[in-house]
Amino acid sequence: MILEVYGHGGDLRTASARYGLAPEQFIDFSANINPLGPPPGLLEKLGEALPLVAGYPDPGHRGLIARLAQSLDTDEACFVIGNGAAENMALALLALKPAKVGIIEPCFSEYRTLSRQFGAEVISVMGEEEVDFRAAPEEVERLILNSDLVFIGQPNNPNGVQYSLNDLRRFAEAGDRYGTYVVVDEAFIDFIPGPQRQSLLAELNRYPRLILIRSMTKFYAIPGLRLGYAISHPKTAALMRDKQVTWSVNLLALLAGEICLAAGQEYERATISLISRQREVLRGELDRLGCYTWPGEANFLLVRLPELWSAAGMQEALGERGVLVRSCAMYPGLGERDIRIAVKDEHANARLLETMKQVVFGKDGGE
Ligand SMILES: Cc1ncc(COP(=O)(O)O)c(C=O)c1O
Repeated sequence: MILEVYGHGGDLRTASARYGLAPEQFIDFSANINPLGPPPGLLEKLGEALPLVAGYPDPGHRGLIARLAQSLDTDEACFVIGNGAAENMALALLALKPAKVGIIEPCFSEYRTLSRQFGAEVISVMGEEEVDFRAAPEEVERLILNSDLVFIGQPNNPNGVQYSLNDLRRFAEAGDRYGTYVVVDEAFIDFIPGPQRQSLLAELNRYPRLILIRSMTKFYAIPGLRLGYAISHPKTAALMRDKQVTWSVNLLALLAGEICLAAGQEYERATISLISRQREVLRGELDRLGCYTWPGEANFLLVRLPELWSAAGMQEALGERGVLVRSCAMYPGLGERDIRIAVKDEHANARLLETMKQVVFGKDGGE
């Protein structure tokens, strides 16, 4: 039985019930969270701020919006703060009421789940395995033509690859031409070094139908607090804000967002350099184990296990040993041997590799 009973990784409670270990005994490679943990001092500052929960959060999210606008050099009116990037996706669907939503498989399962929850029909195109599961740009254009709103992961989960800036421009232009909203999910883009980051943020004002969505939960390691934001044309942002439940973003999350943005370049640089280095080490070692690893640019890797292995078998064998990985067998377009693993620090990655070796070369776990 798979661990992803709620459709996602990071479910320590299910793992604990399944494998008989306490939640804190697992090393979790099934959710893609910054291994450095939250920025230095964040938890202490939040602790000191705890008494503030006796009051309401700012319903206008003004402090965080001002900081984001400044740090991203973008007008305040373009921002919508959400209770996680997931809420921003829901707000886009609620506000823009697409009858048809287009997605590119394999992708983050919430694009489909949320679209269905809000009554949209979901249509899809398949990424092509030969080009690391990107879809052909003309296929994406056709999807945009045939949809009212399209989700594009940049970098995409679970394969971790980006579309080029030229492809993104082509998609955003197609959005304008066909009256389709193009929602680019940049939840993991902060993990990519600046020069390699492909984002239309600097050209946002050229594309009235473009919406960028970012998460603060992964890079700043605060998934339990929930915090994300959307950046779009001010009119679209206003429509989205109009659909938001007042106070849906709590006071501690808003404060954490401001503190994270002030954390500075040192933490950002350390994170990006750790991830880039460790991802390549991990890739090399996984290849030596007989796996095929796609060339993801984010803080996770899509991995095809050696023949005779299954994602379910590996997940269970590792889980019993206190290591959690994400099965990708249920992603349309992927197969029974595909898993996704987060890139963590050297020590944790070594434990993953060591445990995988025990499983692959030991007697148990294989199928
Ligand atoms: C591609 C992608 N986008 C968005 C999210 C949601 O992020 P948040 O925790 O900010 O809601 C996730 C979470 O796993 C994700 O994988």
